[in-house]
Amino acid sequence: MHAATPWVLTLSLIAAGTLAIAATASHAARPGKPAYSDASYAPGAHPPSARQLEALGRQLFFDRSLSASGQMSCATCHSPAHAYGPPNGLAVQLGGKDGKQPGTRTVPSLRYLQNVPPFSEHFHDNDGNDSEDAGPTGGFTWDGRADYTHNQAALPLLAANEMANGSPEEVARKLQASAHAPAFRQLFGQDIFQQPKQTFDKAVLALEVFQQNPQEFYPYDSKYDFYLRGQVKLSAQEMRGLKIFNDPDKGNCASCHLSQRSESGAFPFFSDYGHIAVGAPRNPAIAANSNSRYYDLGLCGPYRTDFKTRDDYCGLFRTPGLRNVATRKVFFHNGAFHDLRQVLRFYAERDVKPEKWYPKGKDGKTAKFDDLPARYQGNVNMEAPFGGKPGGKPAFNERDIVDMLVFLKTLNDGYKPGRRG
Ligand code: HEC
Ligand code: HEC
Repeated sequence: MHAATPWVLTLSLIAAGTLAIAATASHAARPGKPAYSDASYAPGAHPPSARQLEALGRQLFFDRSLSASGQMSCATCHSPAHAYGPPNGLAVQLGGKDGKQPGTRTVPSLRYLQNVPPFSEHFHDNDGNDSEDAGPTGGFTWDGRADYTHNQAALPLLAANEMANGSPEEVARKLQASAHAPAFRQLFGQDIFQQPKQTFDKAVLALEVFQQNPQEFYPYDSKYDFYLRGQVKLSAQEMRGLKIFNDPDKGNCASCHLSQRSESGAFPFFSDYGHIAVGAPRNPAIAANSNSRYYDLGLCGPYRTDFKTRDDYCGLFRTPGLRNVATRKVFFHNGAFHDLRQVLRFYAERDVKPEKWYPKGKDGKTAKFDDLPARYQGNVNMEAPFGGKPGGKPAFNERDIVDMLVFLKTLNDGYKPGRRG
């Protein structure tokens, strides 16, 4: 059900949920008056329209003064000119009070996230077989720890190595002193700044609404979208790439990076939102990795703490969508790769030529899955295209890779039908 829920609908569901909670929480409310009317989050006489919230959210998204350094906005890492992904090939971006604190994960694109379901440990898709438990699925960030984009926006605003504000109150004080103050008073009431926590919550709400702008965040104007609508044909090479991508005996990519429209007709995000371990090599360019005891284990920590004892969840990360992936310069949660061709070769060769992808350990043997402690290495996915024997034949060859690269470019937004390419 979630996968097909449009984001706007999700928002109204959230709103409805809030009201429902309010209604149960204040059963003492007088009859004739909505139960939530005295609550601090009551919409008020003239609740702001989505358009007003969006306009405010857009300004906040680009406002550097909301960071401790005064140098960093959301757009610094999520660049609109790069499908709201990283503007450069750095594995991780620098942030914090002095603008020098390194992150630990690559910046995901913010496009096409409108259908990401809230995190669930036991996911049952409405498409196909309902009864099948797809396991941990969904949620925002690489480990799915934020259920909605408004939970998410609070993270960078407060993270010490990102926008580095000390507290929601500090953000509220900045907003009160900023050029946004009149808009806040107009939209949320003259006394909004007397409630700093509310001020903060309204800011993240506005950011969330901005991130639902269809033209900016889900234009569905890639060549592949035109193809799905029957408006253009893919070239012979693009078609061949798509076939390898879908073929269960070759790329088998579509088993995780869904490429078809859903039963409800929704266009694919090229992810089933599932959490999977693919065993990306450790990236020495991440500062935290200079500590040989530090591991980013995704679902089982360190950022998530609810599954720290679930050894079977260690190394799992949410499958990223592949729209606009050919415009990225950095791949996987740890930025282990900088070239899409290398990513595809890794899929083909991880198990048949591991010595090409992993360094040698102290014992002189290839340290396969070196970004995972040995006890978690059994969590790594072994289905096609993986699972070959060392020295065996890769699931797909170099020509298949070239064709898939050509196909993946059809997922870039901004295709103009009628032009070549
Ligand atoms: C210093 C760079 C940086 C800044 C600034 C930043 N982000 Fe992010 N963003 C990231 C990284 C890195 C992740 C992945 C985090 C993780 O997986 O733990 C992320 C993840 C996200 C996600 C989840 C995407 C997904 O695929 O689940 C959203 C939404 C998001 N950021 C929105 C924002 C907003 C809104 C702002 C401004 C308030 C912002 N970000 C500022 C680096 C940044
Ligand atoms: C078993 C599920 C699964 C299969 C099959 C699979 N992927 Fe992935 N893919 C993932 C996951 C999970 C990640 C993120 C892994 C990480 O960051 O540690 C990923 C990451 C990627 C990325 C990097 C995207 C980014 O934004 O960093 C690309 C590109 C990609 N996959 C392409 C492919 C292609 C092409 C195939 C087929 C040859 C394929 N994948 C097969 C699950 C899968």
